[in-house]
Amino acid sequence: MKPKVFITRKIPSSAWEQIRQACDVEMWEQEDTPVPREILEEKIVDVDGLYCLLTETIDEELLRRAKRLKVVSNMAVGYNNIDVAAASKRGILVTNTPGVLTETTADLTFALLLATARRIVEAADYVREGRWKTWSPMLLTGQDVYGATLGIVGLGRIGEALAKRAKGFAMRILYYNRSRKPQAEEELGLEYRDLHTLLQEADFVCILTPYTAETKDLIGARELSLMKKTAVLINSARGGIVNEQALYEALQNGTIWAAGLDVFAEEPIAPDHPLLRLPNVVALPHIGSASIRTRTKMAELAAQNLLQALNGERPAHLVNPEAWDRQA
Ligand code: NAP
Ligand code: GLV
Repeated sequence: MKPKVFITRKIPSSAWEQIRQACDVEMWEQEDTPVPREILEEKIVDVDGLYCLLTETIDEELLRRAKRLKVVSNMAVGYNNIDVAAASKRGILVTNTPGVLTETTADLTFALLLATARRIVEAADYVREGRWKTWSPMLLTGQDVYGATLGIVGLGRIGEALAKRAKGFAMRILYYNRSRKPQAEEELGLEYRDLHTLLQEADFVCILTPYTAETKDLIGARELSLMKKTAVLINSARGGIVNEQALYEALQNGTIWAAGLDVFAEEPIAPDHPLLRLPNVVALPHIGSASIRTRTKMAELAAQNLLQALNGERPAHLVNPEAWDRQA
């Protein structure tokens, strides 16, 4: 008998084909609407594999219903939507898709940095709305990126890829992680700083840590108050890492200069959210990895992880090796 799989959204056909050939598979076909919780609760009961997106909350309550689930394959590198400890307890493997999205997400992060620094979205709206009357010395002036100081909070795969782009703009690059990376320091000329010193020295602060209990609200009112008045904050990691109320206040009262956000505490962010009313915010709908090639690769990698687990092989990108030990 083929293993039974549920896929929580329409995925690229190449990934779907791989799964279909080996499994008895059902897919939530809609692209624009996440699978309702009740359906997920019903489906999880008797599937061997769940293929999901970061939009699904895979919590203990849901996992408790699963009778034969072996693997949860997340089509994302971040897996904060999954209660990994609850999965491990039940011997359920959790997998993710690191690496294939690194360069694409670094591209977007740097694009967001440039757009925010140089007020690209505001300036484009200015033209379209017919407000452009004349060239003027200080019209829509922004912050220089070339030669500025970049602070990367979370120098992992994407952080390092971002640093490589920043070097092309002659930026001085600071970073903060829990552990130092001597090789990256040497190869890319990076300088390690503790978080507070980095915030004080950087012109641009980019957040690229995972979202964990430790990074929740990592950037709050106190941290924002340490930043330069001319500084720009970019968050392309996860919304909850930056406290949105504190960020709103800092942007409104000039504690920092601007923010570029690809991610939010609640996604999609409500259209009437106060952050969206601020002219010094560039907001994007979580498109860090959204190139056709990269999203296809992520979908295929998630399919491979799923199939490996269902074949009794250790998946290439296993988040919880402790669950593998339990299964063995
Ligand atoms: P990664 O290679 O695991 O890098 C994460 C880095 O964060 C590591 O270097 C880690 O270093 C550091 N870190 C972890 N906990 C920390 C803490 N408490 N304080 C300071 N630094 C900490 O991950 P990645 O592939 O670069 O991806 C990073 C994150 O980006 C993902 O988890 C995901 O949430 C997000 N992301 C967003 C998009 C998007 O579409 N916007 C796309 C891809 C990824 P230490 O362990 O030494 O601290
Ligand atoms: C996207 O946000 C990811 O974690 O892959």
